[in-house]
Amino acid sequence: MKKIYFDNAATSFPKPDIVPDRVRDTLMSIGGSPGRATHRMSIDAARLLFNAREAVAGFIGAKDSSRVVFTKNATEAINLALKGLLLPGQHVVTSAIEHNAMANTLRRLEKNSVSVTKVRPDAEGVLNPDDIMDAVTDKTCMVAITHASNVFGAIQPVEEIGRRCKESGLLFMVDGAQTAGVLDIDVEVMSADLFAATGHKALYGPQGTGLLYLREGVEPLALIDGGTGGPDDNVEIPERLEAGTMNTPGVAGLHAGVEFILKEGSKKIREYEMLLLGRLIDGLLSIDGVRILGPVEPERRVGLVAFTLKGITPDSIGLALDNDFSMMVRCATHCAPDAHRHAGTFPQGAVRVSPGYFNTVEEVEALLVALKKIAKKPVQGV
Ligand SMILES: Cc1ncc(COP(=O)(O)O)c(C=O)c1O
Repeated sequence: MKKIYFDNAATSFPKPDIVPDRVRDTLMSIGGSPGRATHRMSIDAARLLFNAREAVAGFIGAKDSSRVVFTKNATEAINLALKGLLLPGQHVVTSAIEHNAMANTLRRLEKNSVSVTKVRPDAEGVLNPDDIMDAVTDKTCMVAITHASNVFGAIQPVEEIGRRCKESGLLFMVDGAQTAGVLDIDVEVMSADLFAATGHKALYGPQGTGLLYLREGVEPLALIDGGTGGPDDNVEIPERLEAGTMNTPGVAGLHAGVEFILKEGSKKIREYEMLLLGRLIDGLLSIDGVRILGPVEPERRVGLVAFTLKGITPDSIGLALDNDFSMMVRCATHCAPDAHRHAGTFPQGAVRVSPGYFNTVEEVEALLVALKKIAKKPVQGV
């Protein structure tokens, strides 16, 4: 049976051909360690990193590419931003539906006397900017929220929240793990001081890639020491925050992923993904006992749909889809238990289907047929 992959919100698969091609070329032709030696292969590798930084900066609306730091994923980017900037006694406003990358990092900082307020969104998982600003105190130095939850999928009003943070002199940090490559990102338009993203989801890069954008003047402490020569403090961003030999092949693949999106057209990709989402949501709503988390309008969400089916556990549905239909979805709490608590779906979680640009309408229809069969004949042992 042909494998059908519907877990693009975890990591995108397959990658456009240009991505593995570029990774291979980098490993086989460029090879050198960037920023280390004066020989030409090292210089070529440094140039590769520079070009990738320029491309990524342009893609997210950052004026200065030296403010883009490559990380190994969004989790590292978020850790770097929060742990590198927040000091004991300071207060952060976040949401009650964050991914563990944010929630657990803040939990750790709470042990270091940083205080945290989690603002609850509405039932669809959408934050109200007024609620965010109401949670601000005289100790607040940062608002840190997801651009789109990996459970509710709802796109947050980041532009308004960013504008109000800017007016109030607060740092605004956005977790764009689920939106970079899906929505048009402009860090200036959303007034983001920090924007964290992952390279291996909708940017089509390889796993092991991510990034953090920092507005000029935002200077976190490095989490990892090391680097190129003199003491770390003398090294400027981005290198100061990229200690050790870089993942040059991965970054080359990420750059290729961004080129793919630009060539294909982000509007075309988004429209196609919304078409798939629309079919998926309509089909799910026609199955008795289905509850969709988040908004049902495709234009209000990113390309993932989490749902529950009355009487059958999410894990059983996932197993049946994999074993009997060769379809890959993600079940349980999606590294975001807080979001499931808010939805009332904790601890069992939900089934999450996240089609991508390489899925077809026929595959979505086949998934719906499979789900209808599973709904009629509950899996044994449930
Ligand atoms: C909203 C959100 N934030 C952060 C992350 C962490 O991304 P990564 O696994 O690349 O560190 C994810 C991954 O699923 C996510 O969905």
